[in-house]
Amino acid sequence: MLAGMDAVTRAAAALRREIHTPGTGLDRLRLVPTPLVPEVRLHVAEDAILWWARMEAAAGHRLPAPYWASAWAGGQALARYLLDRPRVAAGRRVLDLASGSGLVAIAAALAGAARVRACDIDPYAVAAVDANARANRVAVDSTEADLLDTDGGDVDLLLAGDVFYDRPMADRVLPFLERVAGRGVDVLVGDPGRGHLPEGRLETLAVYQVPSTEPADEEPVRPVRILRPSRRPG
Ligand SMILES: C[S@@+](CC[C@H](N)C(=O)[O-])C[C@H]1O[C@@H](n2cnc3c(N)ncnc32)[C@H](O)[C@@H]1O
Repeated sequence: MLAGMDAVTRAAAALRREIHTPGTGLDRLRLVPTPLVPEVRLHVAEDAILWWARMEAAAGHRLPAPYWASAWAGGQALARYLLDRPRVAAGRRVLDLASGSGLVAIAAALAGAARVRACDIDPYAVAAVDANARANRVAVDSTEADLLDTDGGDVDLLLAGDVFYDRPMADRVLPFLERVAGRGVDVLVGDPGRGHLPEGRLETLAVYQVPSTEPADEEPVRPVRILRPSRRPG
């Protein structure tokens, strides 16, 4: 029956099963308030590595790392920023780049955005954004897409939580964010300092101390900056 389905539909079916029959082990999903953003509840894995291993074993093939199954520090801070300053997103057309769980997109919707789009390259993330938006009773239009070679489309505010997590991603994201900002779109980044963000290209607007829920994080709390691309003279 699953043969004709596309990847997002298959992922959504798998997530529905996981959400409705979660089991009791550490490899289950739970709907829980996000530590720094308790207004938003997310379906997250009790232990994302165990959940991933079980799902791969059941599928019989590799699956992308379930980044969507954790509330990343960068996304938590950016979501907090939007809810603390609703005027940043209210009435605006928002794109949440690399949305993961959809936390940032959901916060933008709760802050009163006119329209929220979320994109991610992982079909499970797209399905998770839908499930999490439903759980929080907001509308988010999620798509499986890599927009990094585009100009970002019709958008007033571009949001990017925790996108500088490795060198190849950072090398693609920064020129994209600068290009989008260069055509007058507001761009906001939430970054916990993973070492891939070049100093001097972005300016800091705020700093949050974020409780971590990430797999393998050794620090219980980490400082996360809210940044925007620096305005260049001329
Ligand atoms: C560290 S997670 C951050 C998720 C979310 N923004 C947050 O802060 O909670 C990074 C996300 O980037 C997504 N990703 C990686 N490359 C991408 C690309 N080229 N376009 C869109 N999403 C991408 C991954 O699938 C993953 O969901």
